Amino acid sequence: MTELRSGLYNAKLPPAGQRNALREGHVPVAVYGLGKMGLPLAAVYARVTGDVVGVDINDDVVRTVNDGECHVAKEPGLPELVAEQVERGALRATTDSVAAAETAVVHVIIVPTPLSDDREPDLAAFEAVLDSIATGLSAGDMVVVECTVPPGTSRELVVPYLEAKSGVTRDEFGVAFCPERTSSGRALQDITESYPKIVGGVDAESTRVASLIYSEITANEVIEMSDATTAEAVKLFEGVYRDVNIALANELARARDDLGIDVREAIDAANTQPYCNIHAPGAGVGGHCIPWYPYFITSRVSAEMPLLLTARDVNDSMPTFTADKLRDELARTGRDIEGATVAVLGVTYRPGVAETRATPAAGVIDRLREHGASVLAVDPMLDDDVVASFGATPVALADLTSHALDGVVVVTPHEEFDDIEWAAFDDLVVVDGRGTLGEIGHSVYVIGGGPRP
Ligand SMILES: NC(=O)c1ccc[n+]([C@@H]2O[C@H](COP(=O)([O-])OP(=O)(O)OC[C@H]3O[C@@H](n4cnc5c(N)ncnc54)[C@H](O)[C@@H]3O)[C@@H](O)[C@H]2O)c1
Repeated sequence: MTELRSGLYNAKLPPAGQRNALREGHVPVAVYGLGKMGLPLAAVYARVTGDVVGVDINDDVVRTVNDGECHVAKEPGLPELVAEQVERGALRATTDSVAAAETAVVHVIIVPTPLSDDREPDLAAFEAVLDSIATGLSAGDMVVVECTVPPGTSRELVVPYLEAKSGVTRDEFGVAFCPERTSSGRALQDITESYPKIVGGVDAESTRVASLIYSEITANEVIEMSDATTAEAVKLFEGVYRDVNIALANELARARDDLGIDVREAIDAANTQPYCNIHAPGAGVGGHCIPWYPYFITSRVSAEMPLLLTARDVNDSMPTFTADKLRDELARTGRDIEGATVAVLGVTYRPGVAETRATPAAGVIDRLREHGASVLAVDPMLDDDVVASFGATPVALADLTSHALDGVVVVTPHEEFDDIEWAAFDDLVVVDGRGTLGEIGHSVYVIGGGPRP
């Protein structure tokens, strides 16, 4: 295979030949980061190109993948696809990022780009990958950034970094930002067909190569942006739109008691007009995307951006609002939250996804404890030690009814909660953050909806 290795950037082959080389296993691909998004992406690349090495710093992840197994839960079709691609020799994994970089022509980066405590994008993992790529970079290689980065990163960080450390000159390798527009639980579908793929290169040739690659990966349209920075902005704009919109829904939900209406009902009806698309209120906004991306923009822009920051403040205030609502509802029924036993349902930030970064459950638990409640927490997606790390006592769902509870806060409605035997409890006070509970025979306050009979 090595003698047939085909570069793509400024390649001698005509485009049709490049496409064939890509399909026939002559374009080795390295995917750096085999997490919830990286593993599905690597598996799809393997199906298309037949030659992918996945790189991860986690030995367990690498071992699992090489065994043809899938460490990412609740991702339809992924265990089968990983098994199939490993079996046919199209996908393997390694911790040796430099060796992977030396063999690869296409380098796909999909590692975490979190927010630091001082609200700056933390590009440490990203830069570690760039170091490895620089060591193995060859003329004709293409670097594809899929993980979310601040605007300007491809042009101002990736290109100069690789050029300075690799010895390969600027006109010999390509760089494009091609954002992951995928949600956990439907990754394969999203990667291969759900939405148009956005690609933006640091130059026209990079955009051309990225477009060629992704026209093989997705059955959907490939949209070529004018440059990489615009593509980086697209991903961030999607996130801040949702953050600001959810903040609007949350602010309206906070006004519910004064208005004396069901704000959710009003939102649903308002949204029947095509220019209105107000999102749903809740106990807060979590995960490693929406709550972080506003700072990816504000950290790179000198202009004031009060709307983005106010939206963040509103959404960050919702866990406290939610816990305080339980305190008020308990008081309304003559009970004191101090000394009460309260269960938090759902510690992950989203139903069905084992992800706790920036979860609103953390703020809810903290506030309930500040009020003097004894806090239990149930999450079928998480191990007990993870739940305990948030300061709550972990309880198995099957054991919930054996506890004498005064209150419940539904933060994240996993489908497993549909089976709770609510009748087993005496006179509960429940705050439903997402409005998913039906008639359960207890006093329920829905965030935005208000008290249910
Ligand atoms: N999860 C989502 O819904 C989603 C959606 C859109 C975009 N994204 C983007 O994708 C990125 C990755 O998301 P994810 O959900 O796959 O994260 P994840 O935390 O599930 O996985 C990240 C993986 O990268 C590995 N890793 C960390 N540092 C590494 C390094 N230096 N070299 C190689 N591997 C390394 C980790 O061990 C882990 O397996 C996010 O940071 C975000 O920018 C995620």
